[in-house]
Amino acid sequence: MTDRPLKQIHLAAHFPGVNNTTVWSDPAAGSHIEFSSFRHLAQTAERGKFDFFFLAEGLRLRETKGLIHDLDVVGRPESLTVLNALAAVTERLGLAATVNATFNEPYELARRFASLDHLSGGRAAWNVVTSSDAFTGENFRRGGYLDRADRYTRAAEFVQLAREFWDAEEEPVRHSGPQFEVEGRLSLPRPPQGHPVVIQAGDSDEGREFAAATADVVFSRHSTLTEGQAFHADVKRRLAAYGRKPDELKIMPGATFVVGDTDAEAAERAHGIRRAQVGPRTAIAFLEQVWGVDLSDHDPDGPLPAVDPDPDSALVQGRVRHGDPVAVARRWRAVAAEKKLTSRELVIELTGRQSFIGSPATVAAQIDHFVQNDAADGFILVPHLTPGGLDEFVDRVVPLLQERGVFRTDYTGPTLRDHLGLPLPGQR
Ligand SMILES: Cc1cc2nc3c(=O)[nH]c(=O)nc-3n(C[C@H](O)[C@H](O)[C@H](O)COP(=O)(O)O)c2cc1C
Repeated sequence: MTDRPLKQIHLAAHFPGVNNTTVWSDPAAGSHIEFSSFRHLAQTAERGKFDFFFLAEGLRLRETKGLIHDLDVVGRPESLTVLNALAAVTERLGLAATVNATFNEPYELARRFASLDHLSGGRAAWNVVTSSDAFTGENFRRGGYLDRADRYTRAAEFVQLAREFWDAEEEPVRHSGPQFEVEGRLSLPRPPQGHPVVIQAGDSDEGREFAAATADVVFSRHSTLTEGQAFHADVKRRLAAYGRKPDELKIMPGATFVVGDTDAEAAERAHGIRRAQVGPRTAIAFLEQVWGVDLSDHDPDGPLPAVDPDPDSALVQGRVRHGDPVAVARRWRAVAAEKKLTSRELVIELTGRQSFIGSPATVAAQIDHFVQNDAADGFILVPHLTPGGLDEFVDRVVPLLQERGVFRTDYTGPTLRDHLGLPLPGQR
């Protein structure tokens, strides 16, 4: 490391949800639907002076054998509605919603994010996602299917057009492009942040290029030191081509944490949490996403299924893609054989990875080390419990980061752009 000044860490709070990191069986686990849960997590994040609160979202619940996937939350309220309510019970915390650019229209989203930005006094952020699958598209009038290759073409034009709407106070927007043919203007003034903050969370080459061209923050899944450093270097290197400086894009991997009084106690807790996250049914449901065949009779505590996956199966709909299923199964068999793992242990190995485990001092030191060594600019923390999973991080780890001089002791401005150190965009 050079003797540059200490980097300041950015932190966000992810409301736990549809994935194996949520522990539903813990007696302290609460509702994923009631407003009190959203309020508790958001107010805890604000007490910890976090940059923003983050909601992931999918537009159609995954299905296995025609039934809703074991882990998906039925009935979670729509993200922007939740954030508008949270704006009323928080003062400074940024509010980020994941909204799909494939199945929405630029005018409508520009208006809704401008509205959140006004109602919250400049705290809105939009995580632009691009899933394009036909199963999700069935929810929409035109059966909104988009060729996978076009997902970022549409997203780039979508965000550009939204920014034109945010800027258009004097002159109406006249836009003619391959995806949109639009003329008009928003019915409200330019948002307090100029443009609400744009987050990006795709990992392909096109996704990274889109981030470099367009985004203010990247939500990545590269949370180990070496993977994080490689991703950070790759995305930051792409910025120059768009006339942007490295500081203008913050890279924030998703990360989990387990704190204990001592490192040993934390390690023991972490082990128990991993097993609770991947119970026998969850392990089978995870394998079915790749195998595409009914594995309800498969023993989760035995070896991986002997049969090969069915690549053309419709057993699982809206699944998370892991790549070519036959190749994935071959890779997983090799890992299981090498490490002598049962099906369930393999799923724990693949999905239950925890980022930061230890005493509060250890976790604070690890996070600081990652950021100072450019594996990240900060983290989007995913607690394993709703709504109280962030409490001990805020009470025990944040003060240590503040003592190290790498995390704010108070907000320095009212807007999310202020927290992230991002300039106000000029008006076209
Ligand atoms: C860390 C991470 C979180 C994501 N969260 C969501 C989400 O909440 N909702 C969603 O529809 N897609 C989500 N995605 C999917 C991506 O935004 C993107 O649409 C998808 O990965 C396809 O783009 P890619 O091929 O560039 O990865 C997420 C992706 C990553 C890497």
